[in-house]
Amino acid sequence: MLDFIGNNKRTHFAGKLNKKNVGEKITLMGWVHRRRDLGGLIFIDLRDVTGMIQIVFRPESREVHKKAGRLRNEYVIAVSGKVLARDTANINKKMKTGKIEVEADKLLLLNDSEPLPVQINENILAEEDLRLKYRFLDLRREKLKNIILLRHEIIFAMREFLTKKNFFEIETPILMKSTPEGARDYLVPSRIHKGKFFALPQSPQIYKQLLMIGGFDRYFQIARCFRDEDLRADRQPEFTQLDLEMSFASQDEIFHVIEEMFIYIFRKTINIELKTPFPRLSHNESMERFGIDKPDMRFGMELIDISDILKNTEFKVFSGALESGGSVRCIVALGCSGYSRKQIDELTKIAKHLDGKGLAFCKVEENGLIAGISKFLSKEESRNILEKIKAKNGDLILFAADSDKIVFKVLAEIRNHFGRKLKLYDENEFNFVWITDFPLFEYNEEDQRWETAHHMFTLPKEEHLKYFDNEEDYGKIIGQLYDLVCNGLELSSGSIRCHRLDVQKKIFDVLGFSEEELEEKFGFFLNALRYGTPPHGGIAPGIDRIVMIMAKAESIRDVIAFPKTLQAADLMSQSPSKVAKEQLDELGIAVTTKAQRHEEKI
Ligand code: AMO
Ligand code: AMP
Repeated sequence: MLDFIGNNKRTHFAGKLNKKNVGEKITLMGWVHRRRDLGGLIFIDLRDVTGMIQIVFRPESREVHKKAGRLRNEYVIAVSGKVLARDTANINKKMKTGKIEVEADKLLLLNDSEPLPVQINENILAEEDLRLKYRFLDLRREKLKNIILLRHEIIFAMREFLTKKNFFEIETPILMKSTPEGARDYLVPSRIHKGKFFALPQSPQIYKQLLMIGGFDRYFQIARCFRDEDLRADRQPEFTQLDLEMSFASQDEIFHVIEEMFIYIFRKTINIELKTPFPRLSHNESMERFGIDKPDMRFGMELIDISDILKNTEFKVFSGALESGGSVRCIVALGCSGYSRKQIDELTKIAKHLDGKGLAFCKVEENGLIAGISKFLSKEESRNILEKIKAKNGDLILFAADSDKIVFKVLAEIRNHFGRKLKLYDENEFNFVWITDFPLFEYNEEDQRWETAHHMFTLPKEEHLKYFDNEEDYGKIIGQLYDLVCNGLELSSGSIRCHRLDVQKKIFDVLGFSEEELEEKFGFFLNALRYGTPPHGGIAPGIDRIVMIMAKAESIRDVIAFPKTLQAADLMSQSPSKVAKEQLDELGIAVTTKAQRHEEKI
């Protein structure tokens, strides 16, 4: 027989009780986390959202004791009783409330529970797929629950900080026009306008700019974004940005607001003092030194360009790369000359996986370079390399020779690999860095056309406007673009926007949009730019990634209450799922047999 809650009121939370409560009569409500029946005494750990406390049922309170005998894990109960201090011998140091316990004199059994398909225990974690299927149970796990609560604290602090800084929180549409923003759109068919579609926002980018044109001066939003792209450990199809935009603000002002905000949320939620201003690195410098635009700067091991030393080399692998306009660069793994053939093969596999042709190596000993490709280098080349890279006896040198693009990709990954493997960094450090001055355009060799490297609504550097006159110069145009990176993760991205119609049109020209396409895709936006658009700029920190960094979570799925898998599916609700034919008919949509067959295969 189950009890109803009636007028019984909870007086305290389990995890908040401490010695000051000793002697008080209290009522707690929560779950039976663990139960021990010692014949006479029955102990349970009662768990609620704040934590746990031990409840003791004594045989002397016969009715209550008898009822407690029926309790099983995850039953839902209300317990009234007195808070007692435990004898020194019985103190449980592993429990936050281990110095006290509650002696029960009343028990309501509010609900029972079937045996759980996944245990609520950090030490016996079930496979992730099973935990995702029963996410509502996994959320009861302390570690996961604490991350979700930290996420709340972080978002609350963001709202608090920005509101104090005169930002207004404004919602923008979820059903919007499909506009190209990099990833694939999630589309929503319209029933009323059959054959037409809304798109879910990849970000509120255009709307926030329209809000600046609308005169709101400073906007923010905890904005849900949707992107149909390949997923990774730090990417979800549905994620959340702290989207913000400011009128009449320079890049420096935006950086300052964001730095102050990070100081505020780190201090308030995890009690850590960040050092500001965050260092700044141009995109070019970041690529040259780390091979990547999101460098983990908690450790060194920087890339070294040795192309000039090897310009006359006879080693075909290197000369070939240099002749076709590429470079030869290396990194030095300190003290790793003991690496076995097998270990080096593993590294080569990483390089090949990233389209590298291989990974050359040699080792450093007292008399110079040995092993690997050392035999292909002249004495002078070896000497000059050693002098430039300052490697020492016992080090391992790894070389990549290819186009800059591949050399950077390969060595950046190998560097991160060593960073993790050799624990070259302090796990407790938060190393923020601004990456600035990204190129505005990138040439797509395959499609033979120019694309925006980041963001098509970005203002180029004023002094680079002249480069629009000549296609050969497009690659030199630097945009007022910036990313904020922490520990090798891109946390935020933003730019100073193109508030002038003439410049925006130049950008669209480079991208090769026809007049009709422009009108069709961006007509409403270009039109808005005609009517007194203030200079403005903004940024969008990814909230999921911020929580990941702050909670030291390994996967983005650990910071989202109901995440999707890497296959962009929800295992709990089994979605996406088929819908009734009538529903499709109403939308004027049919699923092709090809699509059906494809779905059956996965
Ligand atoms: P961008 O596309 O770089 O910029 O996104 C900004 C930040 O959002 C986060 N992010 C993601 N997080 C989880 N899963 C994803 N799939 C994902 N994609 C992006 C990252 C990233 O730094 N409108 C611009 C911002 C602006 O210019 O103001 C934009 O969306 O942390
Ligand atoms: P090979 O002459 O192809 O046997 O290569 C000799 C060594 O150079 C091997 O260790 C390869 O992994 C390495 N190697 C081959 N191509 C490259 C490249 N593009 N960059 C760096 N190392 C390479």
